[in-house]
Amino acid sequence: MTKINFPNNFLWGGAIAANQTEGNIGLKELSNSNFIPVGNRRFSVAEGMSAIQRSSLEYYPADRGINFIEHYKDDIKLFSEMGFKVFRFSITWSRLYPQGEEKYPDSDGLKLYDDIVNECLKYNIEPLITISHFDVPIKLVEKYNSWANRKMIDLYLNFCKTLFVHFKERVHYWITFNEINMILYMPFMSSGLILENLDNPEQIKLDALHHEFIASALAVKLGHEIDKNNQIGCMVAAGDLYPRTCAPNDVLKTQKENQRNYFFTDVQLRGKYPNFALKYFKKKGLKVPFKSGDRTILESGIADYLAISYYNSGTMSSNKSELCEIKGNVFPSLTNPYLKKSEWGWQIDPVGLRITLNSLFDRYEKPIFIVENGLGAKDNANQTLIQDDYRISYLKAHILAVNDAINVDGVDVIGYTPWGCIDLVSASSGEMSKRYGFIYVDENDKGEGSMIRRKKKSFYWYKDVIRTNGKSLEN
Ligand code: BG6
Repeated sequence: MTKINFPNNFLWGGAIAANQTEGNIGLKELSNSNFIPVGNRRFSVAEGMSAIQRSSLEYYPADRGINFIEHYKDDIKLFSEMGFKVFRFSITWSRLYPQGEEKYPDSDGLKLYDDIVNECLKYNIEPLITISHFDVPIKLVEKYNSWANRKMIDLYLNFCKTLFVHFKERVHYWITFNEINMILYMPFMSSGLILENLDNPEQIKLDALHHEFIASALAVKLGHEIDKNNQIGCMVAAGDLYPRTCAPNDVLKTQKENQRNYFFTDVQLRGKYPNFALKYFKKKGLKVPFKSGDRTILESGIADYLAISYYNSGTMSSNKSELCEIKGNVFPSLTNPYLKKSEWGWQIDPVGLRITLNSLFDRYEKPIFIVENGLGAKDNANQTLIQDDYRISYLKAHILAVNDAINVDGVDVIGYTPWGCIDLVSASSGEMSKRYGFIYVDENDKGEGSMIRRKKKSFYWYKDVIRTNGKSLEN
């Protein structure tokens, strides 16, 4: 085993998002996530292909989350007990701008995030803020079809300005959009897009994505102007694809599919649309909605670091008849016979994390922050201390792979914030029973339960990892 040697300033911590934790208490206007039910309609709503409506017959888990709004003080205290150096969370845009278009932010909303940030700082925890994590005020969805309209850029920048000015010198790490590439698969969940009954959904998605790219680049620039110490990252759901065989056509297909994902980071870290993407759009009859000045904006708004989520690798084949069987984190892939799967069918591949880190670092030479990773699994709450050894062994294997990437391969990884450090609502399924946390939350898939928090075995394990800067894993 490679000697464990994480940098002294390595940012150990954990990650959550508002739409999966906060709940609606104090919310003055809803967000897109409040319209995504559990059950049969979930995927079609998340894809923007089903009516956006709320019915008393359905349950919308974002309404309740884990009631973080009333528990954040105790939760952050638990994070500090684990020794977190950083805590990643996101802001509900409509708490600050209920209509999305007000000139000034709502003071109650701002006070809430003030308190959350101050609570982190009280324990010397660095806040890492995702400005937009699958979150759009519903009023902007209704009025503009969200990011399909270029007007969203100004509204988003006004929101960013409020955050950058208000949290100046208190918050240094930002992510402009969570998993910007998720717009391909979950356009309503990720970006508030309604595509039902539209003639050219692919073009609408490209319009929206271009607007997000421009907004992100302008936010990077603005964030630096307001505080030169701001570190502003872009983020993708990462995970390299492997060819199913060494047949050249399988390799070529895999390369093309990997490019499909690198496209998002190419734009945000190289500052321009790559040729392969422009050729693809042309072939499909799609047009990037460039306005004059956009190319300069992209060039001058390159992100400071690359934030990634990593849950699984994937496998590709050139043979169209081999239908994609696995949808680990919604990405189509074949089954890889060398890998085990989680209870939700996500393939477990720690070496894939090392491979992915190498690919991305070779390509961009930018610091990489792993802001999501983890195992969604059922826990047995009847145990006095929940024995989540499966979670520990998943995380251990992935952290060891990160250590190899840093110490053997020379990849610059700056931090690691496992996803759902406290149990939260699953984005893909809306379930609570798909748990990632070091801390158990007493709540079931219908949103029932006491919300009482309990430390799991992994809580003590992770505390040791952080305390020893990873060295406890040598045992
Ligand atoms: C990422 C998202 O795609 O994966 C999170 O950024 C999400 O919001 C996480 O929760 C895990 O996915 P799931 O579907 O298991 O919640």
